[in-house]
Amino acid sequence: MKLKISIYTRLVFWITLLICLLFGAVLFVIQIREARILRDETEARALLQARYMADANLQNLSRQDWQAVQKYVDGHIAGDLIYIVVYDRAGQPAVWNTLVRSHDELASGSLLGDAMTPEETASETKTLVLGGETLRVLEVEAPSFAQAAGRWGSVKIGLSLEPMYARLREIQKVLLLIGVGGFLLGIAGAAFLARRITRPLHRLVDGTVRIANGDFSQAIVNTSRDEVGDLARSFSEMTAQLLQARQRMEEANRCLVQHEKLASIGRMAATIAHEIRNPLTSVKLNIQKVAEEESFAETVKAHLGLSLEGIDQIERFIKELLNFTRVQELLLERWPVGQIVEESLKMIRGTLDQKKIAVEKACAADLPPVLADADKLRQVFLNVLRNAHEALDAGGKITIGCDTVAEGGRTMVRVRIADNGPGIKDKDRPNIFEPFYTTKPSGFGLGLANARKIVEQHNGTIGVGKKRGRGSAFVILIPAEEAK
Ligand SMILES: Nc1ncnc2c1ncn2[C@@H]1O[C@H](COP(=O)(O)OP(=O)(O)O)[C@@H](O)[C@H]1O
Ligand SMILES: [Mg+2]
Repeated sequence: MKLKISIYTRLVFWITLLICLLFGAVLFVIQIREARILRDETEARALLQARYMADANLQNLSRQDWQAVQKYVDGHIAGDLIYIVVYDRAGQPAVWNTLVRSHDELASGSLLGDAMTPEETASETKTLVLGGETLRVLEVEAPSFAQAAGRWGSVKIGLSLEPMYARLREIQKVLLLIGVGGFLLGIAGAAFLARRITRPLHRLVDGTVRIANGDFSQAIVNTSRDEVGDLARSFSEMTAQLLQARQRMEEANRCLVQHEKLASIGRMAATIAHEIRNPLTSVKLNIQKVAEEESFAETVKAHLGLSLEGIDQIERFIKELLNFTRVQELLLERWPVGQIVEESLKMIRGTLDQKKIAVEKACAADLPPVLADADKLRQVFLNVLRNAHEALDAGGKITIGCDTVAEGGRTMVRVRIADNGPGIKDKDRPNIFEPFYTTKPSGFGLGLANARKIVEQHNGTIGVGKKRGRGSAFVILIPAEEAK
């Protein structure tokens, strides 16, 4: 299995490593420079000391006053200056301090050899074991030089380098501390930086996981103005489109189910209608005939009348059912919508007048025509008007308006039919276009279902809006015939 390493961990690792390398390199260079400076300083000091001692003993050497030289040597051993050897004119060791006595290899041989100029000096680094301790020592030798007589001898000093190394170790310790501090700061900084970089990514991942689980309710919030922000934005756009596609799919699915339902109802209805219609007609004719019989009592005649009414209702239901279920090709022609509305109104005018229902109609004169099956569209308006009539009490009012609206880049002709009746209850609102949904005792619940079927066949929509105050308002949109 491949190990999963998060971007956060990788960022922290690489940034820390980079900081460490950088810091390490800088500290290393500082350390080398410090060491060199210390060493140069020590060497210069040793040389100065050797020269000074050589000059100071020039007179003693020229007089070969070894006692005075010995006194000088013993008096000057101190601190890191651990030994002094004074050589005579022939380069042979003449005077030294007590330490050298037990290490005669320190005295033997002058470093200068035959050099005969006053500037000539020599130095050498040695390792010395003293009382079980290993010491690093810097030896420097300078000549005692008199202008006239030349070299009278030389002085060699041994300077312990241990104090210098001790200081160097101290410097290294401080540098190491700085290094550790820098490392810790580096990790903290890297963690902070990595978090800043990965936080928008985390949010993006959370968002995508949520969407993958089907929750489209929240967009991915990301305000960063970088690539992650761009990604979040395009992802949100994609989500929105996905949501739209899903809604379209659900709508299409609903249509399909509806279509299937209608088709099966249609088949059933056709069979039932066929089976019932003929016997029903003969029953109706026979009852009519019997009812004409003069000798029947009035009560019998009243019963027969009720039966005929019942049969009428069954016939109307069958007619409406067949109307709704029959799938027919539309006979499309160019029609001014205003005219179709007017014709529908004319057909129901008488009924409306009986109830003293006023109609107010305002249609724009320059409406574009629609491609429609006039018979069917008339049925739509008639069904809506009939419902308004049924909802209104005597003296009610129906308002009709027609105009155009732009929707989805198309021009639609809009017909609005409103009434000031009791309106539609919220619980009924989602269902009124469903077939067989009715709130009326003798309703069939097919009027609006049929209207929607026809409107959708015309690529239009029908909906019901909430009216301010009382009543309901139906809005029908039919695409306008575009002028070519
Ligand atoms: N103008 C209206 N005012 C109040 N309710 C209405 C109106 N139009 C339709 N409805 C409601 O919608 C339901 C369905 O109407 P419809 O499909 O025509 O069937 P039906 O008229 O046979 O009941 C009605 O039962 C009624 O509740
Ligand atoms: Mg109706």
